[in-house]
Amino acid sequence: MLIFGHRGAMGHAPENTLEAMRVALEMGVDWVELDVHVVEGELVVIHDGQVDRTTNGKGDLADYSLADLRELDAGNGEKIPLLAEVFDFIDRRVGINVELKGAHTAGPAVSFLEKQIEKGWPVDKILLSSFDHQLLLEAKNLNPVFRRAALYFGQKPDYGFLLDELQAYAVHPFVFFVDQELVDSAHTRGLKVFVYTVNEPDDILRMRDLKVDGIFTNFPDRV
Ligand code: G3P
Ligand code: MG
Repeated sequence: MLIFGHRGAMGHAPENTLEAMRVALEMGVDWVELDVHVVEGELVVIHDGQVDRTTNGKGDLADYSLADLRELDAGNGEKIPLLAEVFDFIDRRVGINVELKGAHTAGPAVSFLEKQIEKGWPVDKILLSSFDHQLLLEAKNLNPVFRRAALYFGQKPDYGFLLDELQAYAVHPFVFFVDQELVDSAHTRGLKVFVYTVNEPDDILRMRDLKVDGIFTNFPDRV
């Protein structure tokens, strides 16, 4: 079962910061997961569309210049990282799951990832995911080489869409909705199952017993 450090290792360090990535690596993750938005054409690593919850700032990301955003404290003196900084920091030691969270992220993400491939990142250490499946389709149409995974919260995977249109690599269901039927139906169709967000020891064991392919967790050390 692969371990994805959720927003780095957000159970131990401020989420989606370089520090959270460092701790995740130290805890032996196979992958890190992070969320991206676009600000002034740059991909920035932050979960919400507002800065209030995770920084000392207030208001919408969209109302910030990139320079002002980078002045904020994202916890323990960490800055909101650029996606480029995380890629440089991780430097191929583990995979990176880029979750397209903000609008209009598909184009910038694909252009960015194409540059990373030219710089030597293996394509199998990159995974794009999103709750917005249209963004994933957009990414596929721009460059199908990047693996795609559809996030779900409760809905049943639409396998027609996933296989025929999206040509997905994986499904990412929410932990409470995962049962053997879901795992088996995805596996039968050649799709990996990576489950979010699995923090409780009982759930970690249940996912192992269901033979999911990987889990996102805030606490990689528990796994
Ligand atoms: O990608 C897995 C998980 O991060 C999806 O939910 O809201 O934590 O981004 P969220
Ligand atoms: Mg996420």
